[in-house]
Amino acid sequence: MRVFVAGASGAIGTRLVPQLIDRGHEVIGTFRSSANAEHLRARGAKPVALDLLDPRAVREAVLEAEPEAIVHQATALADVRFSRNMDRTFAQTNRLRTEGTDALLDAAREAGVRRFVAQSFASARYEREGGWVKTEDDPLDPAPVPATRETNAAMRHLDEAVTDAGGIALRYGGFYGAPNDALPTPVRKRQFPIVGDGGGVSSFIHLDDAATATVLALEQDRAGIYNIVDDEPAAVREWLPVLAEALGAGPPRHFPRWLARLFAGEAAVMMGTEARGASNAKAKRELGWELRYPSWRQGFVAVYAPRPAHRAAVSAPTAGPVGSRSPS
Ligand SMILES: NC(=O)c1ccc[n+]([C@@H]2O[C@H](COP(=O)([O-])OP(=O)(O)OC[C@H]3O[C@@H](n4cnc5c(N)ncnc54)[C@H](OP(=O)(O)O)[C@@H]3O)[C@@H](O)[C@H]2O)c1
Repeated sequence: MRVFVAGASGAIGTRLVPQLIDRGHEVIGTFRSSANAEHLRARGAKPVALDLLDPRAVREAVLEAEPEAIVHQATALADVRFSRNMDRTFAQTNRLRTEGTDALLDAAREAGVRRFVAQSFASARYEREGGWVKTEDDPLDPAPVPATRETNAAMRHLDEAVTDAGGIALRYGGFYGAPNDALPTPVRKRQFPIVGDGGGVSSFIHLDDAATATVLALEQDRAGIYNIVDDEPAAVREWLPVLAEALGAGPPRHFPRWLARLFAGEAAVMMGTEARGASNAKAKRELGWELRYPSWRQGFVAVYAPRPAHRAAVSAPTAGPVGSRSPS
C-alpha cells in the first residue's frame, strides 16, 4: 500500500516507517523539523514537510501523495515541560488530535482514502471505578481531573471522529524505548515518588511493539478502538522500583497524597493512586499481534540496564517481521 504517515519523524513514526517498508509498503512521511527530512529519506520514506494545523496544506499534501492509507502519529511532546496543569502541557498536542485529525479525515474523504489509523492513548483514561484493568468496551472516566479535561476531550474527539469515519484509533500505553523517554530522568533523580499506596495502574508499551501493532491495524479492513499495551498492567508500587533498579537509581521515595498534591497536582495523585490499566486481549485476538516485550519487566531491563548490548534497544529502531517476534 501507499501509506501517508503524519508525524513520521517522531518516537513512534521512526519505528513505524522501517516496519512498513519491511512489509512492502511505500511510505510518504511528514515532518516539521527540517533536520528530519534526511532521517526519513534514510529510513526509506519520501519526506514531506507539513504543519497538520494548516488544513489547506494538509489537503494539498494528501491529494498530492495519493495514498491508500493514512496514519496519524503527530503529537507535540518533544521538550515539553510537564507541569501540574496537564492541559497546558498538552495544548498543542490537543490541537493536533482535534484540528489535525479533522483536517486529515477531510483530506482522506476527498482523496478517497479508505484506511485511517490514528494515535490515541490508553493510560489514565478509563473510569476510576471497578476493575483495575479495562477493555475497549469499558467506559472512559466521566469526570476527569480538572487539569486534564481538555486533554481527555481531545482524545475522545480523536477516538470518535476516526472510528465514525471507519478508521482505527490505537490507544497506546506509555511509550518507552526512545532516547527521549520521559521517565528515566526523574526516576534517576528520585523525583518520581510512589504516592499513597501506589495502587494506580499503568500500562506500558515498547515502541517497537507499538509500531508492529500499528502495521497490523493498517492491514485490517475494519473500524474500531484497540488498546495497544503490554501483557502486564501494573501498580506504580510494582513497576517503579523495577525501573529504578534497571536504571541503577536509588529506590523511589514515598509521598503521602497531600504532599504529592502540593508538589505535583491532582493529576499526578490520580495517576499514582486511582488510574486504571488496559487489556490488550482484543488487539492480540483480532490483529494477530505478538509482542517482543510482553512485559515492562523485561522491556525496562532491555532498554535501560547499562549494558552495551542492551543499550542498542534504546537508540536503534528495528525492522523485523510483523507479528512474528519472540520475546528476547
Ligand atoms: N503513548 C505515549 O506514551 C506517548 C505518545 C506520544 C509521545 N510520547 C513521548 O513524548 C516524547 C516526544 O515524542 P516525539 O519524540 O514523538 O516528539 P513529538 O514532538 O511529539 O513529535 C511527534 C511527531 O509529530 C510531528 N509534529 C509535531 N508538531 C506537528 C505539527 N504541527 N504538524 C505536523 N506534525 C507535527 C513531529 O515532527 P518533527 O519531529 O519533525 O518536529 C514528529 O514527527 C517521546 O518521549 C515519546 O515517547 C509518548
